[in-house]
Amino acid sequence: MLINTVILGAGAAGMMCAAHAGGDCLVVDHAKSPGEKIRISGGGRSNFTNLDVTPQNYLSQNPHFCKSALARYTQWDFISLVDSYGIAWHEKTLGQLFCDGSAKQIVAMLVDELSKAGAQLWLQTSLKDLQYSDGQYHLTLLREGKSRAVTCNNLVLATGGKSIPKMGATGLAYDIARQFDLPLVETRPGLVPFTFPEAHFATLAGTALPARLSNTRASFDEALLFTHRGLSGPSVLQLSSYWREGEEISVNLIPETDLFTLLRDQRQTQGRRALTNEVARHLPGRLVEFLAAEFDISGRLADQSDVALQELCDAFRNWQLTPGGSEGYRTAEVTLGGIDTDALSSKTMQAQDQPGLFVIGEAVDVTGWLGGYNFQWAWASGHAAGQAIAARR
Ligand code: FDA
Repeated sequence: MLINTVILGAGAAGMMCAAHAGGDCLVVDHAKSPGEKIRISGGGRSNFTNLDVTPQNYLSQNPHFCKSALARYTQWDFISLVDSYGIAWHEKTLGQLFCDGSAKQIVAMLVDELSKAGAQLWLQTSLKDLQYSDGQYHLTLLREGKSRAVTCNNLVLATGGKSIPKMGATGLAYDIARQFDLPLVETRPGLVPFTFPEAHFATLAGTALPARLSNTRASFDEALLFTHRGLSGPSVLQLSSYWREGEEISVNLIPETDLFTLLRDQRQTQGRRALTNEVARHLPGRLVEFLAAEFDISGRLADQSDVALQELCDAFRNWQLTPGGSEGYRTAEVTLGGIDTDALSSKTMQAQDQPGLFVIGEAVDVTGWLGGYNFQWAWASGHAAGQAIAARR
């Protein structure tokens, strides 16, 4: 079979690319259904984009690379598409947009868009062999137990990253990149909970509070959640993308509270109260019990000097912790690193030295923050490649 374009991966980026590639296009995926990560994203409601998308919301060795694609297919373009399908949505927090109904609506919309554009979708199909000769890609695909030979002019790598192998994530895009000598930036799990040895926070499991998590590279003010195995919640997931094994993090448990002034004022009128009880008015009780083992929160308010109160508040503002590790690709929402942007055109996503080879979505060394940014990159990079392929015909 001869076809203009084969897209490997019917995920967010692959389907978006197919919708814009101008037909004569085959989308191949080894999964039973397309867009599985979209379906489970955002707790089944998909955080499909963000109202405020800037290049600063992305990590990459080249922070400028994402600019062109994001500028040419914005969050407003995707919102218009969603609106044109009558899919109701709402802003949850921090500009994050979710479906009112179900993430399945987004998957159905993309499948509809790709079939309207004339693309075919082959599910439960895997790649057995890939060769390049005379300016064309020769694929051997395995479908329904049979080998199928397919030749194409454009090959798009849209198989995503390594996150959640149980959902079918593979390193196929990286393997093909190596075959064509495209450089890779080392991959690691991102947007992932931290683990601590010996169930350090087990007694606090389920406790959540607003916090500021920082290290030398970044700082995030969002919810913090203690778990049986360590720390999770949006602030932790965000910081995990900026963290390296063995590094310390700083937790500010009172980012919005001037606890020192509150305690000092209380001391005037309620001096006989226990300090722990006063602190527990501003922090979850179980956490205060836990902290009492680490910091001196004993005695009555009246017994505390200004210096002692200040020291305690400083400790709450800069609680230094060293995670033992992260939950890894098993639960990571994204894969940091990937195919080096130096090898790609930021306008078309085409490999600089390999005509007709395109890389889009998470397989590229561009990783977004939590909050709809990863899907926006998938839509934008898929659109950029799709347009370039349509223009190549
Ligand atoms: P994606 O992973 O979507 O698609 C890759 C496709 O390739 C899959 O269909 C897969 O089956 C297929 N494939 C892989 N290997 C293959 C092989 N060897 N042969 C054939 N096919 C193969 N982002 C966001 O912005 N908002 C959110 O709410 C969430 N929520 C979220 C929750 C969870 C649990 C996860 C794991 C991730 C998120 N994300 C997210 C991240 C987001 O899902 C992710 O960044 C995009 O789906 C990436 O889009 P891609 O198309 O690049 O890969």
